[in-house]
Amino acid sequence: MEDRTPLSRRRFLKKLALGTGFLALLSTPFYSFFVERNWIQINEVTIPILPSNSSFSGLKMVHLSDLHYGYYMNQKHLNEIVQKVNALQPDVVCFTGDFIDREVQLLEKAGSILSEIKASIGKFAVLGNHDYALDVARFEEFYSDAGFSLLVNQRITVEKNKEKLHFVGIDDVLMGNPDLEEACAGVPSNEPIVLLAHEPVYADQAKSMENIKLQLSGHTHGGQIRLPFYGHLVVPPLGEKYVQGLHQVENSGLWVYTSRGLGTTIFPIRFNCRPEITVIELS
Ligand SMILES: [Fe+2]
Repeated sequence: MEDRTPLSRRRFLKKLALGTGFLALLSTPFYSFFVERNWIQINEVTIPILPSNSSFSGLKMVHLSDLHYGYYMNQKHLNEIVQKVNALQPDVVCFTGDFIDREVQLLEKAGSILSEIKASIGKFAVLGNHDYALDVARFEEFYSDAGFSLLVNQRITVEKNKEKLHFVGIDDVLMGNPDLEEACAGVPSNEPIVLLAHEPVYADQAKSMENIKLQLSGHTHGGQIRLPFYGHLVVPPLGEKYVQGLHQVENSGLWVYTSRGLGTTIFPIRFNCRPEITVIELS
């Protein structure tokens, strides 16, 4: 009996571990689809891009990306997102592309919900590669109706106490024709620019323009599935660098923030990679 007791305990522990592993394996798809995919995380980050004593110090920007509306993302989800954004009381809201996915006809129903987002200074958006399922003119109308300025190689300048801050948006790199020079033409070199570019790797080009201090991007979804101690398994083309979160671009003063986005594509699941709303305070 004395010999069998430790063996039984070992067998029991082995069976318990196997059973737990099996249950975990079975429950992971359910967790990834029903829980984590809808479990929005609000990330707060302060980014030092402004000169000292700037009038824009403390400016609160809410960054949203990659909604993929129509692909397991419906009016109910969008309503929830809008409520969360408004509760944050942003000065500026930036959307960095891929508003739609496959069901492009559903765009009509999303506009009135999106128009309920409130921002004291402005709401800006750029196109992502999935948005090219529709033409740019249709999106200009859609965003205009929702109170957003769609920036396709364009900029909007905001002013406070005679100080200027520029929001520049470029066309999608994969599907459009980005033109940074056109978008930034005429901006004096001492005035800071916040750049909206769907693909994060564009920061390696944007760093050549010294007054671009911050690039906001999406596109990667953080990989959607991230293994513990390993990271993402797959990212889309032009998403291999700056996959998620805040990075300082090498040999430059440019920061890039890549949002994990709110929606999903290809597979409607997320694991260890929650959807994200980012609150960025400029300092
Ligand atoms: Fe996307």
